[in-house]
Amino acid sequence: MSKVRLGILGIGGMGSGHCRNLLADPDCELTLAAVCDIKESRRQWAKENLPESVLIFDNADDMIASDAIDAVLVAVPHYDHPKYVIQALQHGKHVMSEKPAGVYTKQVREAIAEAEKHPDLVYGLMFNQRTNHVYRAMHDLVQGGQYGAMKRVNWIITDWFRTQAYYNSGGWRATWSGEGGGVLLNQCPHQLDLLQWICGLPVKVDAHLSFGKWHDIEVEDDVTAFMEFENGATGVFVTTTGSYPGTNRFEVELDRAKVVVENNELYVYELDQPVSEVLANSNQGFARIPGHEVKVETDGKNPQHMGVLAAFAARILRGEPLVAEGPEGIRGLTLSNAMHLSAWLGHAVEIPFDEDLYYDELMKRVATSRVKENVAEVTFNTDGSYGSEKK
Ligand SMILES: NC(=O)c1ccc[n+]([C@@H]2O[C@H](COP(=O)([O-])OP(=O)(O)OC[C@H]3O[C@@H](n4cnc5c(N)ncnc54)[C@H](O)[C@@H]3O)[C@@H](O)[C@H]2O)c1
Repeated sequence: MSKVRLGILGIGGMGSGHCRNLLADPDCELTLAAVCDIKESRRQWAKENLPESVLIFDNADDMIASDAIDAVLVAVPHYDHPKYVIQALQHGKHVMSEKPAGVYTKQVREAIAEAEKHPDLVYGLMFNQRTNHVYRAMHDLVQGGQYGAMKRVNWIITDWFRTQAYYNSGGWRATWSGEGGGVLLNQCPHQLDLLQWICGLPVKVDAHLSFGKWHDIEVEDDVTAFMEFENGATGVFVTTTGSYPGTNRFEVELDRAKVVVENNELYVYELDQPVSEVLANSNQGFARIPGHEVKVETDGKNPQHMGVLAAFAARILRGEPLVAEGPEGIRGLTLSNAMHLSAWLGHAVEIPFDEDLYYDELMKRVATSRVKENVAEVTFNTDGSYGSEKK
């Protein structure tokens, strides 16, 4: 196999973005071989915009079973991600799932179990923000251990502004039955993944969520969550789709440094002595700790979605590392589910939490979910929608 033949399942906003990206990069080791959408209007878009060689399917079963593809990119709404990951693997296809890995952890466990039965097939997650050099460098600095223990983790990510028109653009959006959550499940899977990748998973969360605070929607559009980590470090995660311009500042405080990513820049302030040492041993009540800003050399690369897809092809063809292994997707989702559960129950939740209870609580909301009527389905171009750290 010299190139991997890819079939994209769902060519709405993101799926069509993937099509455009692939067609714009003839060197990519993935060839766009097929697309599939249940909507006639999207298939019409494919006819008008994609090369004639690209097969157009109107149902997932036929595309996934087709000999014309080696791999599937799942870009349909979230609830169906695990289902199509499983189906692709069962048909001998490599699979890349859009984020989130699923809506609830129990369904993602089924996808992981299926992947374990097919060690010869590749299962990856579209965590494109992991390709950003600033987060890769932050990961290495925090995980490398040279700055000692983590003390505090604060992420204010309030620059996900979305209008009511965005939520009205699809019947599935911002409903318990169609989407299964709001800003935590649609916009923040990237940040929750990066947070767990860089800092590890918290062991406890106490989250305050507001449902439909800024928009006429039933799911959360405003979140303030307290987190506690295994070593006692604490932190907050704050997000919303109702603020503008908002902030995107991720700060990790360690015993010997403060590491911050803001405005797509990495800033490291290194202390000459550990805080714990000065705090315990200094004889000055108002001691100051000398330190200096460190220039961190990064490779400056931020290939985003195409970086994830290039790595996917390289894994299939040559066994090279993925940007994110499929089974890792459950970690950020665990954090997201724990935040929902905490808000629903009105108290702190420990991780791991009771996944059956989460599912039951979610289904209670699904049962009373409003069906959106008279939705004028619109496919927005998602370019530039990935937050301030795409560029
Ligand atoms: N990685 C990123 O940066 C990023 C950005 C945007 C969206 N996404 C993810 O992509 C997914 C899709 O989001 P979107 O904004 O493109 O939504 P969308 O509604 O614009 O597109 C989804 C498309 O899937 C089609 N579809 C639904 N069920 C199908 C099925 N069973 N078979 C075939 N087609 C089906 C719909 O008709 C629609 O055209 C979501 O899970 C979202 O989280 C990821």
